[in-house]
Amino acid sequence: MCTILALESSCDETSAAVYKDGKILTNIILSQEIHHKYGGVVPELASRAHQKNIISIVSEALKTAMVDKKELNAIAYTRGPGLIGALLVASSFAKGLSLALGIPLIGVDHLHAHILANFIDEPKPALPFLCLLISGGHTQIILVDGPMKYKIIGQTIDDAAGEAFDKAAKVIGLDYPGGPAISELAKSGNIMSYQFPTPKTPGLDFSFSGLKTSFLYLVRDHIKAEPDFIKNNINDLCASYQHRIISYLLQKLEKASIETGIKEICLAGGVAANNYLHENLTSMSIKNDWKTYIPELQYCTDNAAMIAITAYYKYKEGIFDELDATNYASGESSN
Ligand code: KG4
Ligand code: ZN
Repeated sequence: MCTILALESSCDETSAAVYKDGKILTNIILSQEIHHKYGGVVPELASRAHQKNIISIVSEALKTAMVDKKELNAIAYTRGPGLIGALLVASSFAKGLSLALGIPLIGVDHLHAHILANFIDEPKPALPFLCLLISGGHTQIILVDGPMKYKIIGQTIDDAAGEAFDKAAKVIGLDYPGGPAISELAKSGNIMSYQFPTPKTPGLDFSFSGLKTSFLYLVRDHIKAEPDFIKNNINDLCASYQHRIISYLLQKLEKASIETGIKEICLAGGVAANNYLHENLTSMSIKNDWKTYIPELQYCTDNAAMIAITAYYKYKEGIFDELDATNYASGESSN
């Protein structure tokens, strides 16, 4: 039995969650609006916004969970990867609280936490399972043998899937984050209107930079002949582009399943919220006899609940941080 307060501030969400005796009691997320007009996250602005909001987010989380800080058994925080100035906000706060309350500090790897978001609700995936982790910064296929045992078997060699959505959205004048906007516009578009090339990458690896560039060139070339090209064709553009990203992701996931013989399939990360991906995953699951798991939306994008559940597994094994832990880049413990 244990109660953990977890904090996440690696990018542009300030989040605090409380885990108690097997359940997430609360998961408060504040998404920073300030970046929308810049077409991407501005690191300095992100750090300042985390700094401004962290105290109220933590207070709100404890209040909603009806947990007093004296009841806490551990404090967890995202150790990395992420923006250094942003990471420092939750890590410093967590260290201060751990010292003040005299309870263990647990640093959590952000990507590990995205995977274990699949362990928050029932049904949980059976082991071993494959996890397609698709976010703004990462695209990986991970073979998971246990809550603390996993191996990356495929990953992007350049941009991430979320980045491919965000950069294309910027080209056609949509606000950041681009994924939800493209997905919404794509609903009334034709997936066959434009043929974007399927990236050619070996094995289970991905590449999105060529696809992103082909989108940019296609738009640029059409605008020369038709100045209102974007406005007149935005739904078809979004549908065709989204179709290529999603079918490419699923093609690699299918390959990973065939090669490993694993049919328990999980999604994780912000792009896992994509509706078109859900639809296509369903048909692919029927074809391949997969059992699939998608975390609830609030646990797909960045959130502290996934940090809390991962911290619980580390707590059970007594894996704690020293207060002078400093290795933020990889998310792994430096001690
Ligand atoms: O996991 P996440 O919240 O943050 C990172 O760790 O990167 O993922 C954010 C990414 C952004 O690139 C955003 O555009 C994408 O997830 N995203 C989506 C959707 N919702 C968020 N991409 C496609 N379709 C969506 N519905
Ligand atoms: Zn993330």
